[in-house]
Amino acid sequence: MTQTIRKVVFPVAGLGTRFLPATKAVPKEMLPVVDRPLIQWAVEEAAAAGCEEFIFVTSPHKGAILEHFSPAPAYQQVLEARGKHDELALLQAGLPENAKITEVFQDAPLGLGHAIWCAREAVGDEPFAVILPDDMVLHSTGCLSQMVKQYDQVGGNLVAIEAVPNDQTQRYGVLDPGPENGALVGVNGLVEKPAPADAPSNLAIIGRYILDPKVMADLGAFNKGAGGEIQITDSLANLIGEVALHGFKFEGARYDCGNRVGFLAANLAFALSQSGAGGQSDLGENLRSVLRDIMDS
Ligand code: UTP
Repeated sequence: MTQTIRKVVFPVAGLGTRFLPATKAVPKEMLPVVDRPLIQWAVEEAAAAGCEEFIFVTSPHKGAILEHFSPAPAYQQVLEARGKHDELALLQAGLPENAKITEVFQDAPLGLGHAIWCAREAVGDEPFAVILPDDMVLHSTGCLSQMVKQYDQVGGNLVAIEAVPNDQTQRYGVLDPGPENGALVGVNGLVEKPAPADAPSNLAIIGRYILDPKVMADLGAFNKGAGGEIQITDSLANLIGEVALHGFKFEGARYDCGNRVGFLAANLAFALSQSGAGGQSDLGENLRSVLRDIMDS
């Protein structure tokens, strides 16, 4: 019997250098895809998967992230006075009622593993989810919901994976795969950012994890891995004998919004998917027509 996944960690303390100058004053996670920031898409995905406590690992110069999820009384009053009820609902920023928000700081960007370790006290002794907001998955129920269902069957550590082009393995944590069972892949080992010639497969970990709290002790050893950073993949690999690790081939299209092409592609794909979806039902159609004009000119 596995425990319910109630807590989700958002590591959002990175520098976002690939988006300079946009990320000089605005955190990368606040860049909008269609009409809401990346971090709000991530929060909505976690809420849809049943999470109730939202833990942000942030840094002091990224205050805009928490501000986005705080009440905005002055704005609210103006909208109320003008009878703008739809807009008032949008101020809620995707958080479920009674959501608990926790903020912890990562003093220096020492790597994703270190960012997750910074959340250890807020996580406590229970399994938890991790979402990297700059990886977006377009799917009706979201990627994390799919993972929670699988986690209920296998427990342990679970990472979302996808097959990437062979010449891109050096961007990811890569699986040394074991036996496959449907969408689940056993894991014999992991290599962080291998050159294509050294990669044990092309199955790469993307920004969704369900983790056993035992990872925190291993991360706390502060072992530096690829790029001199503290890597979550190294801790997952170290724990394989103790905590089973599975890769999960999720459904849906993934967009790496950490780079410009991926970010632009996500904007197009998410906007085009809104065709006939009510509310902004003509957004997709209008965009299609604009794109045709641009391509033809
Ligand atoms: P990235 O590897 O995309 O790094 O982090 P980055 O700093 O955000 O961006 P670039 O490479 O400089 O352009 C993936 C996620 O992990 C978080 C980031 O905020 C992002 O959400 N992260 C990364 C941390 O919170 N702390 C770190 O030390 C590193």
